[in-house]
Amino acid sequence: MARLENKVTVITGAASGIGRASASLFAREGAVVVLADLKREAGEAAAAEIVAAGGRAEFVVTDVSSETDVRSLVDGAVERHGRLDVLYNNAGGATSKDGKVTEMPLDEFWRTMSVDLFGTFLGCRFAIPHMQRGGGGSIINTTSIRALTGTAGADAYSAAKGGVLTLTRSLAMQWHVAKIRVNAIGPGVVATDRVKAMLKPDDPLVKKSLMGVLEPDDIAYMALYLASDESRRITGAILPAESGASAF
Ligand SMILES: NC(=O)c1ccc[n+]([C@@H]2O[C@H](COP(=O)([O-])OP(=O)(O)OC[C@H]3O[C@@H](n4cnc5c(N)ncnc54)[C@H](O)[C@@H]3O)[C@@H](O)[C@H]2O)c1
Repeated sequence: MARLENKVTVITGAASGIGRASASLFAREGAVVVLADLKREAGEAAAAEIVAAGGRAEFVVTDVSSETDVRSLVDGAVERHGRLDVLYNNAGGATSKDGKVTEMPLDEFWRTMSVDLFGTFLGCRFAIPHMQRGGGGSIINTTSIRALTGTAGADAYSAAKGGVLTLTRSLAMQWHVAKIRVNAIGPGVVATDRVKAMLKPDDPLVKKSLMGVLEPDDIAYMALYLASDESRRITGAILPAESGASAF
């Protein structure tokens, strides 16, 4: 049997990078995948590719920082598919505007907080009641190596991902009673198009990636484990997926 057979799964930020790779992998493992992203064209193409390969997928244009959008994403998934088993809060990512607390533009601080932290908060807010009614579920949040270890130079993003890390533990402590597991993945450097465009070859995190820079599938496979019943007793865990970078 496939590892996610018939699990109804919502993945945010699924039009590209790690989210897209995860949507494709989850569908290959039998899940019904609802892909959500700001980017309509790329999101629809990602869902169409999954369907063409025999999977079950649909795309919903969503801004994760909008309460209305996230409520409608989650409620709509449940209306159409009957339940919600997995929420993968993946949308986000640092931009080149981020930087030192003393220098970076303040609007970038609030953008990062809105997408990475508040977007995750909203996803949990609307998914938990459905999972509770359905008898349980798995929420996968996305933190970062920047929250696992001290790394300089992206102070807004580090703060947002630190918030995600703490929120994950806090929710795990409260919702185990409803059989809802809440975990987070902390990726190191993953070679998505966005990161490849920003990354400098002398970035210390690249040098610390002992097994080489990660690919989106490396994260998708960890998410698959957390989404599946194989991780049924794992909650409140912050799983590094960082090619050894936090060993330093
Ligand atoms: N790539 C890395 O090296 C790395 C490292 C650590 C953590 N992460 C985290 O992994 C996640 C995915 O990163 P990625 O490299 O695949 O990025 P990516 O840019 O390839 O994909 C992110 C997706 O999120 C979408 N998105 C952005 N803002 C959104 C919003 N407001 N609402 C809905 N969708 C939105 C984008 O359109 C994009 O499709 C992010 O949370 C990122 O912070 C990535």
